[in-house]
Amino acid sequence: MKTYTVQFLPDDKCVSAAKGKSLMEAAAVAGIFINNVCGGEGVCGKCRVIVKSGKVTAAPNIFLTRREIQRGVALACQTFVDGDVVVEVPPESRVSDIPQLASEDAVRFGRGTSLIGDDTEFPHSPLARKVFLAMAAPDGDDNISDQDRLYRELRKTRELPILQTGLSVLRTMPKLLRKSDWQVTALLARRGETAELVDLDPGDTSNTILGVAIDVGTTTVVAHLVDLNTSLTLGTQAKYNSQIRFGDDVIARMMYANTPAKHKELRDLVVGDINDLIAALVVETGVRLNDVHFVICAGNTTMTHLLFGLSTDHIRRDPYVPALTTSPTVRAYEVGVKISPRGLLTAVPCVASYVGGDVVADVLVTGMTASEDVSLLIDLGTNGELVLGNNEWLVCCSASAGPAFEGGGITCGMRATTGAIEGMTLGSGGEIQDCEVVGNGKPLGICGSGLIDIVGELLRTGCIDRSGRFVSDVCDKHLRRGDADVLEFIIYPGESTALGRDITLSESDINNLIHAKGSIYMAAECLLDYMGLTFADVEKIYVAGGFGNYMKIPEAIHIGLLPDVDHSRFHIVGNGSVQGAKMALLSEKALDYIYDRIAGAMTYLELSTSHKYMNEYSSCLFLPHTDIEKFPSVTATETKQGT
Ligand code: FES
Repeated sequence: MKTYTVQFLPDDKCVSAAKGKSLMEAAAVAGIFINNVCGGEGVCGKCRVIVKSGKVTAAPNIFLTRREIQRGVALACQTFVDGDVVVEVPPESRVSDIPQLASEDAVRFGRGTSLIGDDTEFPHSPLARKVFLAMAAPDGDDNISDQDRLYRELRKTRELPILQTGLSVLRTMPKLLRKSDWQVTALLARRGETAELVDLDPGDTSNTILGVAIDVGTTTVVAHLVDLNTSLTLGTQAKYNSQIRFGDDVIARMMYANTPAKHKELRDLVVGDINDLIAALVVETGVRLNDVHFVICAGNTTMTHLLFGLSTDHIRRDPYVPALTTSPTVRAYEVGVKISPRGLLTAVPCVASYVGGDVVADVLVTGMTASEDVSLLIDLGTNGELVLGNNEWLVCCSASAGPAFEGGGITCGMRATTGAIEGMTLGSGGEIQDCEVVGNGKPLGICGSGLIDIVGELLRTGCIDRSGRFVSDVCDKHLRRGDADVLEFIIYPGESTALGRDITLSESDINNLIHAKGSIYMAAECLLDYMGLTFADVEKIYVAGGFGNYMKIPEAIHIGLLPDVDHSRFHIVGNGSVQGAKMALLSEKALDYIYDRIAGAMTYLELSTSHKYMNEYSSCLFLPHTDIEKFPSVTATETKQGT
C-alpha cells in the first residue's frame, strides 16, 4: 500500500501514513491529539483542521460551509490521506497535552460533600490497617506454628473469622519473626469476604498507612490520598481522563476499544492517569509510595471494566450485559497501578451496564437509604443516572443526555476549567450584566453550568421562545449569521475573549441542551411513575456530578432540567463518587453497606424499553415543558414580567 508524508503545523511534526488513513489517525501517530467528541463518527464537528496543501479525500458532512471548505477546513476524522499533505491543527481543535489540572481545577473536580453527617453508622475500620504485635517466643509449652502464633495474636483484639496469607509472606515469615525478636507489624487488608495478612514488617511501623480513593470519571480522574490511621485527607489531585482523545462519552470509548490492542491502549491510558495522580500526591505530601497499601476506585461500568481489563463489548450491545458488577480485589500491580508491591486494589460495585460504582458511591454519600422519606438522586455528567428510593427500596435508570452538560456538542462549549463561562446574568435586551468565568480571566468558552444559566437567562429575558428559537424583535442587535449561515447569539464579543473571536450560542446549541435536559427530566418522571409517585412525594433531590456544584437550581428549573419544587428540597452532592469511595476505604461497614443495601438492593429500569419514556419524551423538548402547569414558578415569573 502506498504511504505518504503528513506534516502537522504548527508543531512541524511529520509522519508516514498509508493512503486512506484519516488525518485524525495520522495526528495520533504524530502525538497530536485532536478533539474527538464523537469518537470519530463525524457527528460532532469538533475535529476541524486546515489542509494547507496536498491531496486528501473527504466524506461529506453537515458542519462545514462552502466558504470553509474552500479555505481548506476539514474534519480530521472524515478526511483521508491521498498524497503528501500539510495540515494545520488550530488550538481549539486540540486536546493539548491533557495537562494535570491546575490546582484550582483539581479542587473543583474533587469537591464533594458527605451528607450523612456523622460516622456512627460507619465506624473507623479501614480496608487496610497495620497492627503491631509483640509476641512471646515459642517454647516447649507453646510450640504452635509460626502462622498460628501470628493468627492467634491478631485474633486477640479483633474478629477475623477467615484469614489468609500469601505464599511469599509465608516463605519469609519464620526468619523475619526471629530476626525481629517476635516484634512485627502485620499489614491486614480486606479481600472480598476475608482478611488477608498482606505483609509483615520488622518492628513497629504501624504509625504510617495510607490509602487512595479514586473517582475514575469519563472526563476527569480525581484521587484523594488518605491517612488510614487518622482518616485525614492528605491531598487531592485531578486530571483529565487521557482517554478523552478517543471520544467524550463511554459509547465512543467502547466503540474504539473494539480490538484487543485498542482496548489495552484505553486501559493503559486510564491506569497511567491513576499512576500520575498517585505519584503527584506522593510528591505533594512528602509521603512514601511504599506506604500506600490500598486503592479503591469508583467509576461507571465502562471505566471499571477498562480498569480491570475486562471486555466492554456486551455493555453496548442489546441486551447490555456487563462482564460483572461486583469488583474483585486484586494486587494493584496486576492492573498496572503502582503502590506498595503487595498493595491491593478494588472498586465500588456497579449495578448495570449504565449505572456504575460512581452512582452507588453517590447514594452512600447522600444517606438516602437511611431515611424512610423518598429521595431522588440525579447524577449529571456525560450520561445521566438517576436513583429513586428510601430505606426500603431503590430504583435506578440511566438517561443518555449527550455531552452538552460537559460542554460537548456546543459550538463554543468547553469543560468546566479555567476560562469557562460558568454563570451569566443578562439585561432585558440580552446584554451582559454579570459574567462568571472560571479563574476570573478572559472567557474561552461555555461550560455546562454556564450553558444552563445562559439559556435560562435568554428565556427569562424573552430573547428565545419556549422552543429555543431566537426572538429577533427582542435581541436583534446580539444576533449574527455564522459561517454555516445559522443564527447565532453573540454571548461575548471577540475583543473581550481569550480566543479573540466571538463566543456565540446557536439555536442548534440550545436544541442540544433541550434534548439533554428533556432526557433527564423524563427519566425522573419514569422512575416516579414506575413507583406510582409524583415529585410531590419526593422529600429531597440530590444533584451529583462535578458540574452540579456550580449549577444554579433556579435556572435549571427554569429550563425544565429539574422539577419545579421548593428550592430547599435540593441538595448539591458534588463529586459523590470520590467521597463515597473514601467512605468505603475508611470503613469496612460502609463497603458492606454498599454491597448489601445499595448495589445489591437497586432495581434497574431500562428506559429504552419504557413506553412512557418513548411516548412522552417529546413533551419535554420545550422550555421548560410542553405542559407549563408542571412549572408553576416559571409561569408566575413570566406573568410578573408581563404585568
Ligand atoms: Fe470528527 Fe466528531 S466529527 S471527531
